[in-house]
Amino acid sequence: MKTSNVIVLGVTMALLATGAAWGFVTFSAQADAPEQLGHAILDKDKNQIGTYFVPPDRDILKEPNAAEILQGKRLLNETARLLPENVGNGLNCNSCHMGQGKVDNIAPYINTSNFYPAVMPRAGKEVDLVTRINGCFQRSMNGKPLPPQGEDMKAMIAYMDWMGKGVEKGTRVDVRGAGPIDESLIPDPVNGEAIYAAQCATCHGIDGHGMKDQAGDYIFPPLWGDESFNIGAGMARTYKAAQFVKYAMPPAQNYNLPIGQGGVLTDQEAIDVSEYFTHMERPDFAGKVNDWPNMKKPKDARY
Ligand code: HEC
Ligand code: HEC
Repeated sequence: MKTSNVIVLGVTMALLATGAAWGFVTFSAQADAPEQLGHAILDKDKNQIGTYFVPPDRDILKEPNAAEILQGKRLLNETARLLPENVGNGLNCNSCHMGQGKVDNIAPYINTSNFYPAVMPRAGKEVDLVTRINGCFQRSMNGKPLPPQGEDMKAMIAYMDWMGKGVEKGTRVDVRGAGPIDESLIPDPVNGEAIYAAQCATCHGIDGHGMKDQAGDYIFPPLWGDESFNIGAGMARTYKAAQFVKYAMPPAQNYNLPIGQGGVLTDQEAIDVSEYFTHMERPDFAGKVNDWPNMKKPKDARY
């Protein structure tokens, strides 16, 4: 090897080592989901039969229906702006399905297409994916259902189908919609208010109304008030919200890829702060009278 090549190699190695130490070499290419993140694919007996890798968005371009999938991705990310007729508040689907529905414990879309149709306790019957999505439109988005056969609905489902690509019906990727929380703990809303001020208000505002950018879109979504989810949403329930908050909030706190989320609050703290913000003023939900027709409603239901 020529001396000049050895020097170039040496300098490159030194730069890589410094880069790795600072973290930017490992993380630089990952504005999207981290590609090395594999999850087991399990059969119905929970035996691992393969490994699923969260697909990077650039893979969408390899699909024959790429335009439709990309439109679905846009609709899920920018729902309030693109579908004002159907969204009744300031939220986007991915305000809660964070990281574009690619993140374990934060309501990922990874198993969604495979899972439906399924029986939902709240509906007391089997629902298909279209109905499930429209449930989020009416509750989480405080809005109106999308036409079931329309282009927008098809595009959203195309994105979810793409996320689950290669996973056979009857098997599942080993990720959870939400992580565990100790439901025996009693919420303390007074402590919750203090946690809110310390850990949440910088982004969501001390009045809970979120924060907008110069274009008028929310960068930090509202947690209560007219522009937030209504009392019929899963997120309006203390323990469901606490499951989200514990694993998803506050973001950008640590090296937990891809969004540095969670890992800050204990179960008790997540429950306290969730009791506080879920019980602040928010829109009512007319369809609430039909919920949980066949069973006792959960203890944290708001009605
Ligand atoms: C306020 C938060 C929030 C918003 C906004 C929201 N969702 Fe959800 N969504 C949830 C929660 C919480 C769940 C239940 C997750 C769980 O318990 O597994 C859920 C569940 C779902 C499911 C079922 C997932 C599965 O695999 O079973 C789908 C599909 C879904 N949402 C689609 C949407 C769509 C599409 C939008 C936008 C129109 C939307 N959601 C907006 C919070 C939200
Ligand atoms: C560093 C800023 C930041 C902090 C601090 C923060 N959040 Fe968030 N939160 C966000 C962002 C950003 C989103 C939406 C994610 C997206 O759009 O990708 C979000 C979404 C949410 C949502 C779902 C959407 C909605 O509006 O209902 C809830 C609930 C939530 N946060 C609760 C909390 C709680 C409780 C705390 C304190 C423990 C907290 N957040 C701290 C930035 C923050």
